[in-house]
Amino acid sequence: MSEIIGALRGGTKQHHDNVEVAMQSNQIMDKSLTHEGFLRLLRINYLYMSTLEAVLAENSEWFAGLNLQERVKTPNLVSDLNLYGAEVPTAESNYFEGWSFPRLLGALYVAEGSSLGGQVIQRTLLANDNLHDIDQTLFYKGYAEQTGPMWKQFMAYLEVAPVAPQDIPQVVIGAQDAFGIMMQLGERFAPVNA
Ligand code: HEM
Repeated sequence: MSEIIGALRGGTKQHHDNVEVAMQSNQIMDKSLTHEGFLRLLRINYLYMSTLEAVLAENSEWFAGLNLQERVKTPNLVSDLNLYGAEVPTAESNYFEGWSFPRLLGALYVAEGSSLGGQVIQRTLLANDNLHDIDQTLFYKGYAEQTGPMWKQFMAYLEVAPVAPQDIPQVVIGAQDAFGIMMQLGERFAPVNA
């Protein structure tokens, strides 16, 4: 494992556990997540992905060698919110504005990693009787059968990304802060319990 991947995993394990709780993974897994609860998850992800992707697009030259266009998730989230007639929320500001390349790389690691758990989540949502039309939703499908290959490709990119060894801590801090943004969004939209 490369230094950067090891540092990211070690530096964000606790953050991942916290975000799983904030994103109601227990209710997802025991199939008690309500429709409102599902909309909450879509809104949180929309605000995270749309603001991150806007900043990535502004700085796309930093990510030469990575297929950023194929990784865009915002249109899927808009489509899912529209499917349920739910309002698309507005960000108070862009949480990632002004982030350096190493920090954005950390935020991208968080965004891409979130689609790994998504596969399990999508299957469980399909089996949840509180929810409807999940088969027409897109976000938690992630890259469908391409999820594994897309993740491997991102890991390979991380190993060759132009980050100087002394900047690796900034990548980890970016990932930690990105998880923190997800947690703050979780607080903005209070959890919905059945
Ligand atoms: C809500 C429930 C969630 C569940 C059940 C879940 C589950 C998982 C699982 C099973 C993996 C490992 C997948 C694999 O190695 O093939 C994983 C990895 C990961 N997840 Fe989550 N996840 C959840 C939410 C999130 C969220 C909201 C984020 C980001 C904000 C996130 C970020 C990541 C990252 C970055 C990894 C990659 C870790 C690595 O291997 O380097 N997860 N998740």
